[in-house]
Amino acid sequence: MNILLITSSARGHAIAEALSRSSHKPSIIAVSPSGNPGIKRIADEQHVMDIMDFDAIADIAKKTKPAFAFIGPDDPIGAGLADVLENMGIPTVAPKKSLARIEASKGFTRELLERNGVYASPKFRLFNRAEPEILNTYIAQELGGEYVVKYDALKGGKGVKISGEHLSSVEDGVRYAMECIEECGQVVIEEKLVGVEFSLLSFVSGTQVADMPAVQDHKRAFEGDTGPNTGGMGTYSDANHSLPFLSDADIARAKEINRLTAAALQKECGEGFRGILYGGFIAVRDGVRLIEYNARFGDPEALNILPILQSDFVDICTAMISGELSEDLVTFKHKATVCKYITPQGYPDNKNQKGETVTFPHIGENARLYYGDITENDDGSLALGSSRTAGIVGIADTISEAEKIAQQLCEQVQGPVRFRADIGTDELVSQRSTTMEQLRS
Ligand code: AMP
Ligand code: GLY
Repeated sequence: MNILLITSSARGHAIAEALSRSSHKPSIIAVSPSGNPGIKRIADEQHVMDIMDFDAIADIAKKTKPAFAFIGPDDPIGAGLADVLENMGIPTVAPKKSLARIEASKGFTRELLERNGVYASPKFRLFNRAEPEILNTYIAQELGGEYVVKYDALKGGKGVKISGEHLSSVEDGVRYAMECIEECGQVVIEEKLVGVEFSLLSFVSGTQVADMPAVQDHKRAFEGDTGPNTGGMGTYSDANHSLPFLSDADIARAKEINRLTAAALQKECGEGFRGILYGGFIAVRDGVRLIEYNARFGDPEALNILPILQSDFVDICTAMISGELSEDLVTFKHKATVCKYITPQGYPDNKNQKGETVTFPHIGENARLYYGDITENDDGSLALGSSRTAGIVGIADTISEAEKIAQQLCEQVQGPVRFRADIGTDELVSQRSTTMEQLRS
């Protein structure tokens, strides 16, 4: 069985590893934008090429006749690679372009939920005319100056600006909203929510939904959640598949929102969403709200989730394709995980460490190492790229033990690198719980 895997980064390495554990013993034909040493060891073929070159990917698909394709990153999904492959008769685990609007357009998502009675959004409005007075009135009066402005297209996680963080006045917000309208025709302006964020990802095939363990991501570059936003510096998940600061009702509601959204997509798009529906939620004073949807695995979330996937990942993909996905088919080990990303010392701003050598310690049974932006030299040594280097995941019965495993391994990595020591620590986890208790008391 050939599987065509279009992917990149440590998330791609984790996906390749999970597929390779399957009892079907698939041959993985990987297509990635750079040579990933982890994927190289697992895949039968690794084609290093532009993953937006759909004609070239179609040629590889014609030659290798995969049983199915799996697409990892947002850009090829958002641009319709699943449509190209499906039109060639290759079943694809990733949504088609019209369904991927759930990630690519924040305005589409807010309106879809509203039209279908899924009351999970903050107060919001879409604007497509650059009228400063109207924008000003909405931000200042209707939202009371506490607001978020969202560029309405894919922008690599850089399109969202928040009052009090990136925008210091109502005028700043109006200016950025005008810029968004000029560049992409539309902007979403919404209420700024206060609470604790978490990710809940589900496997989806039309209206069939099976959930994964909840994960908390840490997007800020530095300890104490300071510095610029990054793709994610690390993540943790708990053995009970919830998170210490969430109630049973919070998790149940997030799962319900994913189900209602899958049903709304099927109803409005004429066909169902197939792939990974990633809900970015925030637990607030009176429940749970949706921050955004992604149409793919999270990075690093996939690094927590996939190592503890107990079921056969190929069987799950096949069931998503045949429309036979059920909750019974998807089981996870009851283990906690903590992932810490190793990055170049100057990440994200300074790229001076690119090309320098990095070495990793031996990784035992209770941990995983997933390679990200790293290249293998001819002599087998590894060199840093400029983005996130590798995710190290500790796996144990509690978050606290998993954190210690990940931390010890990160400390042994040699080279001009850094990581966030605070992710998954007892102190950080209990701070989250205190924040939620205070909000809800
Ligand atoms: P997004 O790309 O929509 O996930 O936004 C990026 C980040 O901005 C999120 O992870 C949140 O931290 C923050 N954010 C987005 N929308 C809101 C909101 N309505 N209230 C508060 N923070 C938000
Ligand atoms: N961890 C954030 C993302 O994958 O978008």
